[in-house]
Amino acid sequence: MPVFDLVIFGGTGDLACRKLIPALFNAHRARLLHARGRILATGTEPIDRAGFIAMLEARGRQMAQVGEAGTGGGADADWDSFLHRLDYLQVDATQDSGFEALAAGLSGHASEVVVCYLATAPHLFAPICAQLARVGLSKRNVRVVLEKPLGHDLESSEAINDAVARFFEEDQIYRIDHYLGKEPVQNLMAIRFGNILFEPFLRREWVRDVQITIAEELGVEQRGTFYDRTGALRDMLQSHLLQLLCMVAMEPPATLDADAIRDEKLKVLKALRPMSPRCVAERTVRGQYRQGAIDGRPVPGYRDEPDVAAHSQTETFVAVRADIANWRWAGVPFYLRTGKRMASRLAEIVIHFHRAPHELFPRPPGLSAHNRLVITLQPDESIRLYLLTKTPGDTIALRETYLDLDLASSSSERRADAYERLLLDAIHGRLGLFVRRDEQAQAWHWVKPILQTWSAGNQAPKPYTAGTWGPAASSALLSRDGVAWHEEA
Ligand code: BG6
Repeated sequence: MPVFDLVIFGGTGDLACRKLIPALFNAHRARLLHARGRILATGTEPIDRAGFIAMLEARGRQMAQVGEAGTGGGADADWDSFLHRLDYLQVDATQDSGFEALAAGLSGHASEVVVCYLATAPHLFAPICAQLARVGLSKRNVRVVLEKPLGHDLESSEAINDAVARFFEEDQIYRIDHYLGKEPVQNLMAIRFGNILFEPFLRREWVRDVQITIAEELGVEQRGTFYDRTGALRDMLQSHLLQLLCMVAMEPPATLDADAIRDEKLKVLKALRPMSPRCVAERTVRGQYRQGAIDGRPVPGYRDEPDVAAHSQTETFVAVRADIANWRWAGVPFYLRTGKRMASRLAEIVIHFHRAPHELFPRPPGLSAHNRLVITLQPDESIRLYLLTKTPGDTIALRETYLDLDLASSSSERRADAYERLLLDAIHGRLGLFVRRDEQAQAWHWVKPILQTWSAGNQAPKPYTAGTWGPAASSALLSRDGVAWHEEA
């Protein structure tokens, strides 16, 4: 671990307080940070270090009350020692003055690496990078971490990337997709490429379909303004869902070198069959939640959320059938879906295998004939291979059981959260779990006709009741192919 300075732009924002600082605190507590590593939060609030810490602690207590990972709460020796690393500086990305002070503050500390985490709105990325360069903070030991969404479409994302590239080389740019930092996603790589047993089966001869779901119970919370301009396709599908698809579908990279991995992911994105307007009509579903209930608690409809337009056409749910046109995956549908205010919080990848060619044993009603590999990312983490085996007794009666390929629940090993892993990677200079520019452009390129066809068609998203699995059209998307979503099967 090098001596580092981590500068967080947007340091008083939601992401910094809810994810980044807690992740850094956990790394500190696990003794994974260099003793002389420092964290400098910057923001426009006119507060000092003490004010910033007071704000964090107040939020930490609030989060502890609602059951989220807190950021200390006093009386904890690790939290107290963590605070020694923290500082706050008032910096306005549109003004010169704060950057001089930032550069001066960093120059007094002989750090080997400076990581600038841009947890701000993307339109500030270019001005921040320009200011960093102006005050000499674009040297080779400086890295920038860019939060998603990077732009609104292919053109705006390219414009931001061009602007950042004026000051930083591609190997200094860390585009974060926190889903790649989740433990089961890493484990999927290990299982696929560390064994001889799985890889031969992950192809069209064996796989019937792949389903990738990221369902949230949360609504848009305090992010109505952002979300109403963005929608589920840009917020989740263009990034997280397509990255997960790449992890399932990519060929084995020759090495663990960052570019070897990213080259393979790029090939998958390039092989995605382009969406014609007809495909968009047939293979995509957009939905928007109406009032309903989550955990028995009434929740408002999307259009009644704060800062959302009364007649908003923004989708809070999207389901897509994607096809990968290559030898390995031709003909295997990849169903992707994500939504806010769904029946439960669930992120999972389900790989359904074909049924056995000849059924020898009677199969009780309701028992699926399809073996499946289920990688659950949330709410719990697990990787399970579901198989049919014999129920003890004098006749062969099948039942379903699973092989637990992770055994996490029974182990006491420490598991890092996604942001912790990715922050440590950025400090170490490991780019493998960050998205390269060409990958990101390719993902935008693929979603472009969906965005265009939706906006040209001017059709309202299909309503669904909050607390359900999305509009009925989502089930119909699969039933046309004789398939059902995992929870409906
Ligand atoms: C973010 C999206 O990238 O991911 C949010 O902008 C979403 O809208 C979040 O809520 C989900 O992440 P996680 O890790 O909580 O499933």
